[in-house]
Amino acid sequence: MNFIETESKLFFHTYKRLPLEVERGEGCFIYTTDGKKYLDMFSGLAVNALGYAHPAVVKAIESQARKYTHLSNFFIQEPQLQLAERLLRHSKFDKIFFTNSGTEAIEGSIKLIRKWGKANNKKTIFGMSNGFSGRTMGALSLMDKQKYRDGYEPFLPHFGSIEFNNVDDLNKKINSDTAALFLEFIQGEGGIVGVSPQFVDRLQSLREQYGFLIVADEIQSGIGRTGKLFGYQHFTIEPDIVTIAKPIGGGLPLGAILGSKKVSDVWSYGVHGTTFGGNPVACAAGIATIDIVINDEFLRNVIETSRYAAAKLFEMQSKHAIIKEIRVFGYMIGIELTIESGPIVEEILSRGVLVNSTANTVIRILPPLIAGRAEFDQLFGILDDVLASMK
Ligand SMILES: Cc1ncc(COP(=O)(O)O)c(C=O)c1O
Repeated sequence: MNFIETESKLFFHTYKRLPLEVERGEGCFIYTTDGKKYLDMFSGLAVNALGYAHPAVVKAIESQARKYTHLSNFFIQEPQLQLAERLLRHSKFDKIFFTNSGTEAIEGSIKLIRKWGKANNKKTIFGMSNGFSGRTMGALSLMDKQKYRDGYEPFLPHFGSIEFNNVDDLNKKINSDTAALFLEFIQGEGGIVGVSPQFVDRLQSLREQYGFLIVADEIQSGIGRTGKLFGYQHFTIEPDIVTIAKPIGGGLPLGAILGSKKVSDVWSYGVHGTTFGGNPVACAAGIATIDIVINDEFLRNVIETSRYAAAKLFEMQSKHAIIKEIRVFGYMIGIELTIESGPIVEEILSRGVLVNSTANTVIRILPPLIAGRAEFDQLFGILDDVLASMK
């Protein structure tokens, strides 16, 4: 039996795996057991911000693993404190709670909102159409995609969905009973689609009117991916809660909820918790990551390189009618095609580069933040050839 057959025999069939047996990764590249080298422009679903085996991350993991790999949250742990201090200092939020994953950060936020809502006589929580919040029942309750929800009914009561970027729907559904609204300012899984400034403006004025909470889901777009600490910082709005995960653990499982002063006192001892959340090794890897990424020069480079990538893509669009739209938000890049993107992504993989297909027709590119012009050039050379061969 080869490894694909073995996987299929052993595992629930939840993942459609890639046919690659990875031996190791280094920088922007992965190396497979058959001696091939692949450029990873998807960075483990936006987790590997510093690529593979970054020396600072490896050193932080090794050094913390020698001290302690787990203590439990009965203990105050230095790596947690240091990472919390950095995240709050950079973001200007007031309080933090560490989780293991993105969906747990969403789940915890829902609980925080429920308690806040009880005290403020507000119940309904909204997600956005086409959004992605994770796989727990709370996260699914926020989502409208049947693909993820089918068969898991019933969902949590007092949840609803607002059509992304539809100001009329926002006006219709928000009222004094609204407790919170979850928003990816740049929808990732939904195809790299940005929220409109009009939608954000209206949201802002409705919050002034009704006093609900705005949650920015920065699990995919956060920690430098768009050239700023958070994606929402490209807009003129301050959310009340931010959820983060993916790159924050430097490749180890870690997420967090950041809260403004408005929600600082909602939780008291024992009302929420986790065994593993805030694991010290993950926090140490996170500190190493943050210290490199949240730096003006590093982020300027992300913005400048993404502008270079955008210019190349627009050039390509003028050559290939199959490219319908290009959406670039730093290192979150979506190329919307007039046809299904899956076969194109497979063809690109067969030529040695990893990108992803999402929302049926979108090629999603989420490169490690250390990727430079050379990496984009390699991908775009292949993409150009593949699209030309489609004619
Ligand atoms: C915007 C967003 N929210 C939440 C999640 C869920 O995170 P996790 O897979 O770590 O549970 C994801 C994962 O892709 C995401 O992109």
